[in-house]
Amino acid sequence: MVVILLGPPGVGKGTQGARLVDDLGWVRIATGDLLRSARRAGSELGDKAREYMDAGELVPDDLIVALVREHLEKLDPEVGVLFDGFPRTVPQAVSLDAMLPEVSRKVDGVLLFEAPDDVLFKRISGRRSSPEGRVYNVYFDPPKADGVCDVTGSPLVHREDDRPETVERRLEVYQKQTSPLISYYDAAPTRVMRIQGDGDMEEVRGAVREALATELGAGAAGA
Ligand code: AP5
Repeated sequence: MVVILLGPPGVGKGTQGARLVDDLGWVRIATGDLLRSARRAGSELGDKAREYMDAGELVPDDLIVALVREHLEKLDPEVGVLFDGFPRTVPQAVSLDAMLPEVSRKVDGVLLFEAPDDVLFKRISGRRSSPEGRVYNVYFDPPKADGVCDVTGSPLVHREDDRPETVERRLEVYQKQTSPLISYYDAAPTRVMRIQGDGDMEEVRGAVREALATELGAGAAGA
């Protein structure tokens, strides 16, 4: 099973992706997390991606497709896959459609998360992340001790691209370059499951599980 998590910045793709990994045992391939980890490692990819990410722009398609291919090749064929933040452009989706049959897979469904911009801004302004990629929120999901990851004790940071002016740009980029994917997948034989993303985290989790169970038979709703 292959499912794509699609939606604007801050809508909760990473939050729900992590819950689905816990609930269903699937693997999550999150291109934003992979790029941030490449930056921390000081790799060539990380250096190339830095400027685009900090400006709220998309990293070029060829770099992203190569990164995803590398991870796809290592996957256990039996395990379900969640793509979080990929594809982000129609050319990336076309590349994914070409790559998946090479590993005997196809896109089964798209979870499309939607929420108003004011909700997205509030969530992003409150987001704090650990270097290992755990995500908290000072308003909605605070760590036990202020500014410190519950699990590793690492200091939490406000992402460089979470500054308000960069968030505005990311939302524009989403509308212009990523939202055409909605029509792309609506026209394909792929289930597009629309999820109201502005409820609380557990409500959204329930809606996701319900949609996956009803539309794709994945897991059991509420189980
Ligand atoms: P990426 O890391 O993918 O960022 P994004 O898509 O902009 O998404 P976010 O991580 O901001 O939000 P999210 O939807 O995961 O929300 P979260 O769960 O954290 O990409 C970053 C950059 O990398 C891009 O701008 C681009 O430069 C580059 N990039 C990545 N992929 C690329 C690609 N394929 N092609 C080209 N470039 C690429 O939640 C947000 C906050 O809200 C958290 O604090 C969370 O705790 C809280 N929250 C979540 N759900 C709820 C809820 N229901 N109620 C209350 N609070 C909630």
